[in-house]
Amino acid sequence: MIEKILIVYYSLTGNTQFIAEIIEDITKADILELKPIKQLNPSSSMKYMWGGFQATMKKKPKLHEIDKNPLDYDLLFLGTPVWAWTYSPPLRSFLSMYDLSDKKIAIWTCSAGGTAKGLERFSSALKDTEIIGKIGFREPLNNNPEESKEKAISWVNEIMKQFN
Ligand SMILES: Cc1cc2nc3c(=O)[nH]c(=O)nc-3n(C[C@H](O)[C@H](O)[C@H](O)COP(=O)(O)O)c2cc1C
Repeated sequence: MIEKILIVYYSLTGNTQFIAEIIEDITKADILELKPIKQLNPSSSMKYMWGGFQATMKKKPKLHEIDKNPLDYDLLFLGTPVWAWTYSPPLRSFLSMYDLSDKKIAIWTCSAGGTAKGLERFSSALKDTEIIGKIGFREPLNNNPEESKEKAISWVNEIMKQFN
């Protein structure tokens, strides 16, 4: 029996947030957006350089205060954009702060290109947890949002079936 669910995500340009809100609608779970103190400008082309650098160097940027305790939850949905073929630095910060080894985890990624690499790297960062679902989206806001929404809904429903 799953009692408490938390959705945790970071999103620079809205795609990961779009999926987070679909999950929130279905599960009515609590939601936590990770906000780095030094945020990149989503409309600057420099974001690729700085963000790619941070991701490649495995940086853990300082986050604004987190007002939910992930350890109080049984199931966590974790979402990230793919940066430089890996998960984004704010998720790296988040994962370094908590021991999630007794949690059930479902992960999603949003990327411009193929989804396999980002999902694989994100999964391996969570290898001590029980990953009960994973899925990759290709920029859902730009590529058929309705279809992406349907895909997200069936994925979440499939996960939640286990707990009904
Ligand atoms: C710094 C940076 C690096 C990126 N690196 C990749 C990448 O390696 N592979 C890829 O497929 N997409 C890459 N992208 C594209 C994003 O993963 C994609 O646009 C994603 O949907 C963004 O999610 P968001 O809107 O929630 O921020 C990158 C974007 C940024 C800003």
